[in-house]
Amino acid sequence: MVSTYSQLCPVVFGPGAINQLADKVKEYGGTKALCIYDAGVKAAGIADKILGRLAGAGIAAVSFGEVLPDAPSETVNRAGRLAQDEGVDIVIGIGGGSALDTAKAAAVLAENPLPISRYFVGRGSPFKSTIPLFLIPTTSGTGSEVSIMAVIHDEENHVKDSVLRPASLAIVDPELTLTVPKSVTAMTGFDALSHAVEAYTTNRTNPKADILCLEVMRLIMGSLEKAYNDGSDLEARTRLSLASNLAGMAFNDAFLHFGHAAAHEMGVVFHMPHGAACALTIPEVITFVSDVAPERTIKIAEALGVDIRKGASAAEIGEEAAGKIRGLMKRLGIKSLKEQGISKEAAMGIAEGAVAHNPFVSCALKPVDPPVLRELIGKMYDNYQ
Ligand SMILES: NC(=O)c1ccc[n+]([C@@H]2O[C@H](COP(=O)([O-])OP(=O)(O)OC[C@H]3O[C@@H](n4cnc5c(N)ncnc54)[C@H](O)[C@@H]3O)[C@@H](O)[C@H]2O)c1
Ligand SMILES: [Fe+2]
Repeated sequence: MVSTYSQLCPVVFGPGAINQLADKVKEYGGTKALCIYDAGVKAAGIADKILGRLAGAGIAAVSFGEVLPDAPSETVNRAGRLAQDEGVDIVIGIGGGSALDTAKAAAVLAENPLPISRYFVGRGSPFKSTIPLFLIPTTSGTGSEVSIMAVIHDEENHVKDSVLRPASLAIVDPELTLTVPKSVTAMTGFDALSHAVEAYTTNRTNPKADILCLEVMRLIMGSLEKAYNDGSDLEARTRLSLASNLAGMAFNDAFLHFGHAAAHEMGVVFHMPHGAACALTIPEVITFVSDVAPERTIKIAEALGVDIRKGASAAEIGEEAAGKIRGLMKRLGIKSLKEQGISKEAAMGIAEGAVAHNPFVSCALKPVDPPVLRELIGKMYDNYQ
């Protein structure tokens, strides 16, 4: 089989990577930066640290510190307007996926007319975006720094849509994640794990993504609980940063399927944080594929550290793997749909919208139409309470 895999941008990775920022800005010809972040990143002292470094190197900077969760289109438009008004020549996104996706969209708007909705995938307005874009993740979850898409909350149509603009450079410094709160550590860790499990079970897999996905699963199982229990554990944080980054590279080519379709819709309808929604889908994604991809199911279980019983079927092994993930979710405080006050009927009711709004659901190994997804969400509800 012939497959396609890519590497969208260079990555500077490791504790202390941020020390290269000013030199890299100069290397890319930046003289005036737009720094994009949110209140949490500011409160953690990260934005000021980065602004200080730019100032110290004689690089001018303006700030947009009003990023909101899930990159709503109105906020994105304001960031884009600022980029235009200030005539910046480089955009720097600093934060979780919401800040990085806002920065990707603002980079598009820096050189193209507003609003961002013109450039949503499927609407087809062509655009050129050449301004350098640096992305500096401060959570370990989305992998947005190496994926092509910015996931934007389209407030007009109440859906998550996307704009395609890769970074020019990613700077992944695990030290920047040391201040991530416990609950965000858990949710973002499950987001990265869901990227790996989903990207390993699409109809677009490739050899590079396969290797990355299995390693991501191993890295996360060996470090997420450690980082959750001790946020200052730099070794665990470093493994999670690597896992998140590698998972982003994997799903950028291999895509995702029903887990993220459901998670996006749950995010919009129930205002659930992205990673919390993704976590709930992982066990069902694993068991869903055990009949059509038994070998992959066993590989997933091995990577997750399940003791494979001799003679067990792929379906049984998949169930054990799913159970292991549910146990980890409980220990890390992931709330079930029921605990969030959502009824089973309401949860299953998102199936239609999830399929309609997320065409990548067709990348699943078996067809997922609304009745199939309804049933899967029903299982998510019953199997994790
Ligand atoms: N573009 C992609 O490829 C892609 C992939 C997956 C998810 N996403 C999107 O990413 C978004 C979710 O991103 P997220 O899970 O990183 O959440 P987030 O960006 O909303 O951040 C979550 C919270 O963590 C805080 N935070 C971030 N870094 C911190 C730090 N170092 N110290 C203290 N607090 C910190 C933030 O202030 C915020 O309150 C969603 O919109 C989702 O759709 C995008
Ligand atoms: Fe995700």
